[in-house]
Amino acid sequence: MIFPPQTLIWYPYAQQKLMRAPLQITKAQGCRLFAGDKALIDGISSWWCAAYGYNHPYLIEALQRQAGKLSHVMLAGITHAPAQKLAELLSELLPPGLCHTFFADSGSVGCETALKIAYQYQLYAGAQQRSKILSLKHGYHGDTMLTMAVSDVPSMHGIYQAQSPWGQCIKVEATAEAVQAAFAAHGREALCFILEPLLQGAGGMRMHEVKLLKLIRRLCTQYGAVLIFDEVATGCGRLGPLFVSSLVTPDIVILGKALTGGCLGHAAVVASDKIFAPFYAEIPGRALMHGPTFMGNPLACAAALAAFELYFKAGCKERVAAIESQLKRELSDLQHPDIVQIRIKGACACIEAKAPSCLQGACEYALEHGVLLRPIGACLYTLPPYLISPGELTQICAVMRGFFAETVL
Ligand SMILES: Cc1ncc(COP(=O)(O)O)c(C=O)c1O
Repeated sequence: MIFPPQTLIWYPYAQQKLMRAPLQITKAQGCRLFAGDKALIDGISSWWCAAYGYNHPYLIEALQRQAGKLSHVMLAGITHAPAQKLAELLSELLPPGLCHTFFADSGSVGCETALKIAYQYQLYAGAQQRSKILSLKHGYHGDTMLTMAVSDVPSMHGIYQAQSPWGQCIKVEATAEAVQAAFAAHGREALCFILEPLLQGAGGMRMHEVKLLKLIRRLCTQYGAVLIFDEVATGCGRLGPLFVSSLVTPDIVILGKALTGGCLGHAAVVASDKIFAPFYAEIPGRALMHGPTFMGNPLACAAALAAFELYFKAGCKERVAAIESQLKRELSDLQHPDIVQIRIKGACACIEAKAPSCLQGACEYALEHGVLLRPIGACLYTLPPYLISPGELTQICAVMRGFFAETVL
């Protein structure tokens, strides 16, 4: 069989023959991507990572400076200033005690590593009988085998379900009653509880409140389960606070996506003193058996250091608060028979429709109106860059409203 030339690249999450031809992006600047001479405001920050837009001079200069010195070296038996400085900065920015950083090359690998750390921690604590992993229904933690097993997005991972490498993943509804019931039933055998705090992204931009996190924190402590916050999407300012982990402290947190300002793929898995302690023992063999080749990549670490500086310099906390207010002003009164709910938190707004079919044509409609949006299931959402201008954000909101307004019932 002869395949057409575009099949040389295997594209993600798409049927390769039936998919729409990909947009040919030639350059990017600020919050805009350019497909030839057509400018598109990126309403989803390139899968939520481009928090400062594209080609920000501050990030580009940091990358160029670092590239001139050292673009990569392994972290086995070697260390370097960008990784050391980033680990130090994370220990300063995160709550006290969360200060031992393992670097990974992507969010999925970061979550996978966090689960391995929790497993080894329980082993060293003499709790071999703990074999169950608790996570939230509609959670998403990546596409590797174990992260799929603890995720709950059948539209993405359903085909692999029969091959789950971990038979005992308990998916818990994000309500106080369900959480209490899950701990009562499985708490004593629970290895850990992994969840996306406050905002479950790929499972449909579902939101819950801090009090649920506080309850899970209390029950994890009571039952001896390791609490893991997957802040790959929520960390680095997306919801207002720099980290949700500053509101409720987990035992392990994973950061990714916006960590490097979206310039390079990287993740930081930060463990507490308590979790790290049994690994730091006079017992040979107590090593974490994980080591991605590109972990602690100097370019990624330099970009992350610059991204945190930029976060503070550009007043991103205030910007996210302003984005949240504007999203509420411009979207929350939208009404349409197809709309089930509108959810807004920090720099994230989601319009949930009755069914994915209600959003048919939404992506194309947005492109025609100069905005890049990519619905997830029945959710039309935006997670814009923090540096978006009010005018650009108005254009995104107008497109989201316009799609429903022009949908013929
Ligand atoms: C919460 C969460 N965890 C993990 C991941 C996986 O990250 P990556 O795509 O870098 O592997 C994602 C990606 O969307 C995510 O949203």
